[in-house]
Amino acid sequence: MTEDLEQIAEQHKVVVRDLMKVYRRGQKEVIALRGMDFEVASGEFLSIVGPSGSGKSTLLKMLGALDRPTAGTILFDGHSLTLLDDRRSMLFRRQKVGFVWQTGNLVPGLTAFNNVTLPMRLAGAPKGAANERARMLLETLGLAERMSHRPNQLSGGENQRVAICVALANNPELLLADEVTGELDSETATMVMESLRRTNQEFGTSIVNVTHNPHVAEYADRVLHIRDGLIEGQRHTLYGDITEIDAKGRMVIPETVRRLAGIGKRVVLKVTPDGLLVSPLAAQDLDNDIPETKVGASEP
Ligand SMILES: Nc1ncnc2c1ncn2[C@@H]1O[C@H](COP(=O)(O)OP(=O)(O)OP(=O)(O)O)[C@@H](O)[C@H]1O
Ligand SMILES: [Mg+2]
Repeated sequence: MTEDLEQIAEQHKVVVRDLMKVYRRGQKEVIALRGMDFEVASGEFLSIVGPSGSGKSTLLKMLGALDRPTAGTILFDGHSLTLLDDRRSMLFRRQKVGFVWQTGNLVPGLTAFNNVTLPMRLAGAPKGAANERARMLLETLGLAERMSHRPNQLSGGENQRVAICVALANNPELLLADEVTGELDSETATMVMESLRRTNQEFGTSIVNVTHNPHVAEYADRVLHIRDGLIEGQRHTLYGDITEIDAKGRMVIPETVRRLAGIGKRVVLKVTPDGLLVSPLAAQDLDNDIPETKVGASEP
């Protein structure tokens, strides 16, 4: 890790560098994220706005370790999410992150109260403590009178606020919200956004809220605009620690990495004791001396 990045990571909950995501379906490729750089400070409320298809949900999935980026880095408290194995990803999601989606993720047969206690009980919290926290969360979000209602007995806005309580149940450090007001009228949307604001202020939870609605975005401390998988107007700095190689052996090398390494369209590959060295192909090499690549050669 470069010293600069280490310093930035110390001062932020989340640091994103050169984040790329390419979805592959057969021969078709969709580049959903084209190299994003940004940070989320501890306790910050960040909104991400952008048109449909600009990569908002993709980005949120990467931040919540629900999916892996194709290339680039996400640091959470200075630790790389892209380097976590499946088990650690699962633990990260369970212990550090809360999710709220547009369509409610409540269990239909359970009351609001039991929906909120459920994740705490699953995480092994004692019943008394879980009950107390559920009551506190529901009261904080203005649902004191609705605790014994089931999801189909609650309004859309109330359901979303219960969903926020569920996401907060295990006291996550980061709350990720994707179009939570998408299906709500503006008055109800205001109530839900005020609840997110209160969550941020009272519990110090960092929040990343995705929306296509500029009014909804205004509840945050800061708004990032994205378009076509890029942050509009943001400067690129570099740190790439991981990338993928597909079945055909193709590797995505982020543009900033290529630029810094002086890599053009052709490269020289060399197997070294540390792995594979990818070097720029010098102009004179083009005519004659392309070094031989000995893949798998192991010298004594
Ligand atoms: N699993 C997938 N496989 C292939 N392509 C995908 C997949 N998920 C998303 N995409 C594509 O990636 C791009 C970004 O999608 P994403 O869902 O992140 O957009 P979005 O900004 O959340 O849009 P919306 O506002 O409509 O929810 C789109 O072009 C989408 O079609
Ligand atoms: Mg989306």
